[in-house]
Amino acid sequence: MKTIPALKERYQPYFDIGAAVTPAVLIQRGELVRTQFSSLTAENQMKPEPIHPQPEQWRFADADAIAAFARDNGLHLRGHTLVWHAQTPRWFFDGADRDTLLSRVRGHMQTMFSRYAKDVIAWDVVNEAVEDKTSAVLRDSLYHQIIGDDLVVQSFAMARQLLPDGYFVYNDYNELVPEKRTKILTVLDALNSAGHLADAVGMQCHWNIRDLDLDELRRSLDLYAAKGVHIQITELDLSLYGSEDKTVHDAATPENLALQAELYGRIFAIFRQYHEVIDSVTFWGVTDEESWLKNFPVPGRGYNKPLLFGADGQPKECFWHVAEF
Ligand code: GLA
Repeated sequence: MKTIPALKERYQPYFDIGAAVTPAVLIQRGELVRTQFSSLTAENQMKPEPIHPQPEQWRFADADAIAAFARDNGLHLRGHTLVWHAQTPRWFFDGADRDTLLSRVRGHMQTMFSRYAKDVIAWDVVNEAVEDKTSAVLRDSLYHQIIGDDLVVQSFAMARQLLPDGYFVYNDYNELVPEKRTKILTVLDALNSAGHLADAVGMQCHWNIRDLDLDELRRSLDLYAAKGVHIQITELDLSLYGSEDKTVHDAATPENLALQAELYGRIFAIFRQYHEVIDSVTFWGVTDEESWLKNFPVPGRGYNKPLLFGADGQPKECFWHVAEF
């Protein structure tokens, strides 16, 4: 049998190889995670809603379990995420004016930093603040409505003040789409003008085998890097369904899996070329079995197989295109 190389060792000269995990995945697939990956992101457990459901209530157990696994196995940990319009409990916004909301965010950050800053090497300070449907730069979220146009700068300034040595990331999706990318670049300009408050931009990279344009990938890496920030690939997966495809037909055909493998190989060849600006490449999950894409955008998509490992924990064809170069 062919020996399975460890991705984290293959990529050690280039960047961290990460995975989004849950405590359950760490129990079920601990060995695979430990041997293949050098960085972890909590899939949900460090988001405001699960960890801080009420003003005076914190539920640390799940995030603690992930942090302990990272520490015990010498893996890096990314902190995901502090300021986000989704998965944030309603009480943050209830009856809040700008100062109240900012002080709630400050309290949230303070506790997150005091508990996890010793383990976390990069924080997604703001997630998905940019609008991608209308021409507005920022999304019409409660955060935006209450704090205003300087919401991203305020959040980063606060984080910087609380944790001067923190490594701070602005994270978003549709990061290759030119209109959206221009807006993300505008946000990076604002953070730079306010005192170089962001260390990196997080490109989520929820992609699919139909729409991916590798020229846009190169252009995007160049444009983001030109802002003087590093780049983290934070949520990579490569769906077998096009972005407009809402069916549940079996897309895991041999042709699609072969195309996926070839694309994964080409993507990582580009990432390697940019290794001086890319800190880490994180997959959004460990195996196809636990991928969020089984239930998004439609439930019942067991046929979607977006990651490098199959439900049996074994490497798929695409793994070899990433591992062998
Ligand atoms: C976004 C978030 C992630 C996760 C994915 C889907 O990209 O940043 O935390 O919720 O959506 O699972």
